[in-house]
Amino acid sequence: MDKYRISGGKALSGEISVSGSKNSALAILPASLLINGITRIKNVPNLKDVCYMLNVLESLGVKYSFSGSIVEIDTRTLSKYIADYDLIRKMRASIYVLSPLLHRFKKAEVSLPGGCAIGTRPVDLHIKGLKELGVEIELEHGYIEAKMTQMKGKEIYLDFPSVGATCQLMIAGVLAAGKTIIYNAAKEPEIEDLGKFLNSAGGQISGLGTNEISITGVDSLHETEFSVIPDRIETGSFTILGAALSKNLTVNNTIPHQIEALIEKLQESGAEITVSQNSIHIKKSGRPQGINVKTLPYPGFPTDLQAPLMAYLTVADGPSIINETIFENRFHHVPELNRLAADIKIEGQTAYIKGVPSLEGAPVMASDLRGGFALVLAGLIAESETIINRIYHIDRGYEELETKLQKIGADIIRIK
Ligand code: EPZ
Repeated sequence: MDKYRISGGKALSGEISVSGSKNSALAILPASLLINGITRIKNVPNLKDVCYMLNVLESLGVKYSFSGSIVEIDTRTLSKYIADYDLIRKMRASIYVLSPLLHRFKKAEVSLPGGCAIGTRPVDLHIKGLKELGVEIELEHGYIEAKMTQMKGKEIYLDFPSVGATCQLMIAGVLAAGKTIIYNAAKEPEIEDLGKFLNSAGGQISGLGTNEISITGVDSLHETEFSVIPDRIETGSFTILGAALSKNLTVNNTIPHQIEALIEKLQESGAEITVSQNSIHIKKSGRPQGINVKTLPYPGFPTDLQAPLMAYLTVADGPSIINETIFENRFHHVPELNRLAADIKIEGQTAYIKGVPSLEGAPVMASDLRGGFALVLAGLIAESETIINRIYHIDRGYEELETKLQKIGADIIRIK
C-alpha cells in the first residue's frame, strides 16, 4: 500500500487549482442512467471513487470513456438491474443507481451499503421517500428489492436534510408522474449541480439551493452535455492549508461563496483571506487564535472540513472546541494527530483542542478521506518527518494531491 513521506515546517507559496467536485460527479454519473443515450460530462475529477462509480455503471451494461476530465456514457446497452454487494460496499454513493434502475426496468435489486469508518450511514430516508413515491421495497438478505409500475409525485418531508436522500429523491422524482416536493431538502451546492444537470436533460426542477425542491415529472430525459462545479471541499482543504502554512497562496478555479462558513472561521482565527470571482488568496499572519466550531448542514460549517480545520488548530495560540453534529464517529484523526504531539481530548461528539507551540513528525495512519488530508496538513506543519500509511483513503477524494502540493513548495513524496 502506498505511503506519503512528508518533511514539514516549510513555508508554502504560489498557486494551486481545484479539480471538479467529487460529490457532484458521484451523483450525476448514476443519474445519467435515466437518459437512454449518450451523456457527456466535463470537469470530472480523476479519482478512485469516480473510477469506481464508472465500474459500477459498466457492470450494469453501460459503456463509457473517460479521458482528460471528460466522461462519455452510453446507456443504450444498460442490461442489468442488480447491483451486487461487492460493488456497493466499497462506495456508498453507488446506492444512487437505485432510482434510475427503477425507472429503466420497473425493478431493481441494490445491496444495502454497509457502514464506513465515520458512521453507520443508514439509507432509511432514501427508502422511506421512494416508498412514498409508490415504490414497493423489501429488505432481503442485505439487499433492497424494489419494484413499481409507475412512481407518483408526492410531498416528502425529510427527517434530516440528508444529501444522499435528497439526490436519490430528485433523481426519482424527475421521471415520476406529477409533482414531487421535497421539504427539508439538503442545500449543498452538489445538490444544486445535480438538479441543473437533470434540468439540462429536460427535467423540470425548481427551488434548487433552497430546502424546498419542487419537481414536475416529465416522460423522459434527452441527451445532454454538462460541466461539473469545482470541488468545494478540496477548495476548503487548500484554503485551510494556506492559512496554516503560506504567506502567499492563491487557490484557483473555485466558487468562493460556497465555503463562506469556513472563510469566516479562518478569519476569526486571524488568517487574512481575500476572494475574487473564482479564486481565493490566503496570507498566514502568525499563529492562529483558537476558535469554536460546530458542523452543520450547508450553508453551515461542513462536516467534511472538520478534520482539516482541526489539524490547523492543533498549533493555535489558545484552546479550540469542535462539535461534530453530522456523523457519529468522525474523530478517527484525533489519536493520530496526538501522535504528532497535538493535545486533543474527545468527549462524546466534541473535541477539545489545546493549542501546542509545534507538532513533531511521526508515522501515522489514515482511516478516512478527510481525516487523511488532516494528517497530510499536520505533517506539513510538523517540524520533522511524517509517514502517512493507508493513503488510498486520500486518493479517493484528492486528485494528484502530492503533485499539487509539490508545486507550492511542499516536501511530500509518494512511496509505492
Ligand atoms: C454526503 O454523504 C457526502 N458524500 C459526504 O462526503 C458528506 O460528508 C455528507 O454528504 C454530509 O455533507 C457524497 O456526497 C458521496 P447525508 P451522505 O445523507 O449522503 C444520516 C466525503 O468526504 N442519514 O447528508 O451519506 C447519516 O447517517 C463524504 O466526500 C440517515 O440517518 O450524507 C448522517 O449522520 C464523506 N438516513 C447524516 O444523515 C439516511 O437515509 C448525513 O448524511 C441518510 C443519511
